[in-house]
Amino acid sequence: MTQRQPARFRPVDDAEAQRANRGDWNREADEYQRAHGKFLGDASFIWSPEGVDEADVRLLGDIEGRRVLEIGCGAGQCARWLRAQGTEAVGIDLSHRQLQHSRRLDGETSLAVPVACATATALPFSDGSFDLACSAFGALPFIVDIRTALREVARVLRPAGRFVFSVVHPMRQVFPDDPSERGLWVSRSYFDDSAYVESDADGFATYVEPVHTLGEWVAAITAAGLRIDSLLEPRWPAGHTRVWGAWGPIRGAYLPGTAIFSASLCELGT
Ligand SMILES: C[S@@+](CC[C@H](N)C(=O)[O-])C[C@H]1O[C@@H](n2cnc3c(N)ncnc32)[C@H](O)[C@@H]1O
Repeated sequence: MTQRQPARFRPVDDAEAQRANRGDWNREADEYQRAHGKFLGDASFIWSPEGVDEADVRLLGDIEGRRVLEIGCGAGQCARWLRAQGTEAVGIDLSHRQLQHSRRLDGETSLAVPVACATATALPFSDGSFDLACSAFGALPFIVDIRTALREVARVLRPAGRFVFSVVHPMRQVFPDDPSERGLWVSRSYFDDSAYVESDADGFATYVEPVHTLGEWVAAITAAGLRIDSLLEPRWPAGHTRVWGAWGPIRGAYLPGTAIFSASLCELGT
């Protein structure tokens, strides 16, 4: 049996993160869909473990008839909801096993989502192909080079196009990954930019979660030519007891767990 090394924080580049995370999501996709599929819904758009539902918050605005790209779509639940609302939504994901789950849900719901296996840092689409792009914890929380990913999104958007995406709230990175009271103690510096890395016995990364400060997100979004319209920090809803990783009601009472950025492509000259 392969021994794993203890997880640690260290610098990684995007190629190493992508290699590790493709393998991890292919291995973990079945368990992820088993554990979270019911909460996500087969054709629903859930932004975060707090249960923020696009059907209620409408962060994407007017969507009917729009061409929409879902980035890091997993089993395509959000894109499937978008198609049911009259959009032409498509998805991309790094993991072929996640996309096989998307095919399974296509059959089970009779709502088919066209998908491609690709990384968010090299989108397989022409410039100006989409009116909207979205991502619910897809791809961006796993990417070291967020500037390239955001530039790619901006490239495939049409003029005045919008990108709305949810990620782990940067404040979370100073606390241990623990949903209990033990997760309420500051355990590392907010400014430590080394990534969380799990490795196999030979030291090869098998899972990588980079960290980015709020300032780095703002800089990456604006450097891509996007303007931030809003930043939603959802509160933990009263009575919501579901624990998902380090998200849950105990920490949710004190800390934001999710950041949802809404951004628009700047018009020339603005
Ligand atoms: C937490 S899941 C989110 C998927 C879906 N939105 C959901 O809520 O289940 C993260 C997804 O991002 C994908 N991913 C990770 N790194 C990626 C990358 N560089 N490019 C595209 N997708 C990536 C994973 O394969 C996984 O399906």
